[in-house]
Amino acid sequence: MKTAIRGALLTFRRDPLLAGVEAAMVYESDALVVMEEGRIAAVGPASTLLPTLGQDVAVTSYPDSLILPGFIDCHVHYPQTEMIAAYGEQLIDWLNHYTFVTEQGFADKAHAAAVAEVFLAEQLRHGVTSSAVFCTVHPDSVDALFEAAERRQLRIMAGKVCMDQYAPAALLDSAERAYHESKELIGRWHCRGRAEYVITPRFAPTSSEAQLTALGALAAEYPDMAIQSHLAETPGEIAWVKSLHPDCPHYAAVYQHYGLLRPRAIYGHGVHLAEEELQLLHDSGASLAHCPSSNAFLGSGCFDLRRARTVPRPVTVGLATDLGAGTSFSMLQTMRAAYEAAQSHGYALSAPQAFYLATRGSAEALGWADKVGSIEVGLEADLVVLTLRSTPLIDFRMRYVQDIEEALFVQMILGDDRAIAATYVAGRLQYRQGQARQGDM
Ligand code: GUN
Ligand code: ZN
Repeated sequence: MKTAIRGALLTFRRDPLLAGVEAAMVYESDALVVMEEGRIAAVGPASTLLPTLGQDVAVTSYPDSLILPGFIDCHVHYPQTEMIAAYGEQLIDWLNHYTFVTEQGFADKAHAAAVAEVFLAEQLRHGVTSSAVFCTVHPDSVDALFEAAERRQLRIMAGKVCMDQYAPAALLDSAERAYHESKELIGRWHCRGRAEYVITPRFAPTSSEAQLTALGALAAEYPDMAIQSHLAETPGEIAWVKSLHPDCPHYAAVYQHYGLLRPRAIYGHGVHLAEEELQLLHDSGASLAHCPSSNAFLGSGCFDLRRARTVPRPVTVGLATDLGAGTSFSMLQTMRAAYEAAQSHGYALSAPQAFYLATRGSAEALGWADKVGSIEVGLEADLVVLTLRSTPLIDFRMRYVQDIEEALFVQMILGDDRAIAATYVAGRLQYRQGQARQGDM
């Protein structure tokens, strides 16, 4: 069945930082997006497309709104939903005191399933239609998330966290178990509908050399599969990795040594990377997930996006909440945090750059740019509709806005879940503000 939505539209063809806003950004003040069988069947000015539509095609209009590609959170931990806003610690203590306690609860599949429901409902309420998700060491935690995502037809990648050292015994697997359990999950879920498996060593310190070797071997068996982990988030973590791998010249080289740096390998943070590491990420085709609210919350440091994107060795970067160290599901609030991180490095992140990062940038970082992240004919119809006057203050501020870039900036600084009017997944309305879940409509 064909359906259509009408309103102002914004999407990106490429990175405005590298290509310039003119070449990168597409804005249409009155557009129509026609959706059929989960994909975008047509997109263009309403005045030209409306006459071509059959009488039977329902058109939903969104005045005073902006239609965008669904937001893509390229690094997030669903089991940490229940411990977002955990007080008072920095990374390693935060992991030990909060995260590793919480994650033990996911031995219980019913608990995992309940949290997965809350997590995905929150994502849809915030306009997030795709994400790359860390589960826990328990295979059941992966099944629970994929099952909940399948019910909503979400494009999602997720993986069992692998760790065999420096965590409580209840959260440890082994090199062999990591390999076999990951492989079993691949068989069950990889490329089933819109689900993809992602090989997921938690980070270098919690995997023995044997486990890193096993996961490198698994990655070699699936050369197109995504890989996710963490890299250079805090100075203490980097010193720890150096002590565990004294022969590696730097942290990124550890992942390279085990065959875990390649296209579709995405590493959270990368806050404290040396020049050689950025070069290595560029050369290998691996990407970074910029997690600014998490970095601020844990006091990890400030990622320098402009440095990472420097030509001639730009590293592909997407935007991520890294919840539960991140403090919000909102990609608007995450853009705000990215703006503040850039300011602390002495420059301003433009609104087009921020919206690009949260949509097409994350899609490119995950190797999904041919599927989602833009509004183009043939891509999957994952869309979010922002309402541009979602609070009294935003309404007032918008009266003084001169152009689309200023409007976008106001939304990313002041907006949150209240700005999400509707979320479409594979062409179906899955969330509309003020209504219960629409998934079965
Ligand atoms: N490094 C290893 N595990 C984690 C995690 O769960 N969250 C964050 N922010 N960093 C990590
Ligand atoms: Zn993380």
